[in-house]
Amino acid sequence: MKAIIAGTGIDRVVMDLVRKSIGTQFGQVDYYLRDDLVIIPRHGFGHEVAPARVNYKANVKALETLGVDRVIGIYAVGSITSRLSPGAFGLVEDFLDFTGRDTTFFDGVDAPLRHTGMVDTFDRTLMADFAKAAYRAGERDIKSGIVYVTTNGPRFETPAEIRAFRNLGADVVGMTLATEATLIHELSIPYAALAYSINWAAGLDEEGLSFLEDESIERLSRRILSLSADALTGGR
Ligand code: HPA
Repeated sequence: MKAIIAGTGIDRVVMDLVRKSIGTQFGQVDYYLRDDLVIIPRHGFGHEVAPARVNYKANVKALETLGVDRVIGIYAVGSITSRLSPGAFGLVEDFLDFTGRDTTFFDGVDAPLRHTGMVDTFDRTLMADFAKAAYRAGERDIKSGIVYVTTNGPRFETPAEIRAFRNLGADVVGMTLATEATLIHELSIPYAALAYSINWAAGLDEEGLSFLEDESIERLSRRILSLSADALTGGR
């Protein structure tokens, strides 16, 4: 099995797929199924919860239970540097975690304590497969090496926070990746992450915080979903 985990708006893009649901020790997980491709809407079907309240453990445990051996996560972000400007997408290769969330399956209470190395969180082969699929589909400027800083939200950042994050090496900001990436890596599931930018982060746009039009966001997320599916299934 292969999987994609995607955020808000995914329901509009994949409406016609079979809907399923699976129980885990952390709760129920909704997903769509197309052949051997599982698509998990991060927030469940048709609703949205604050990023800190997403049931990441259930979603990631469901990947394991379903026998998923490759997963791509898709993330809407704000741009901090021009490495990934609004309207562009790229492969995330590292992250900073400012959430303070409970982000482990192995806390020494419910399961034996385990310290997971985070040097190889993002799978090289899967990233290369994505780049190949994107190239085949006509993309000629595939961005990579993006550093994603994760905030707890749901509020957006202050301009001072964004300046600090830029000084720390972050290219984009969002509210979900670090938690999901850590849990996926704890279970050793090969994983790649795609960020697409929908705004300049706080303080970087003279107009204030302004987002791409819904139509552009939908077009972008549809494109990334289709390229990700191609990368995972070899274009079948
Ligand atoms: N900040 C945090 N999360 C986001 C942003 C942002 O500017 N844009 C999209 N997700």
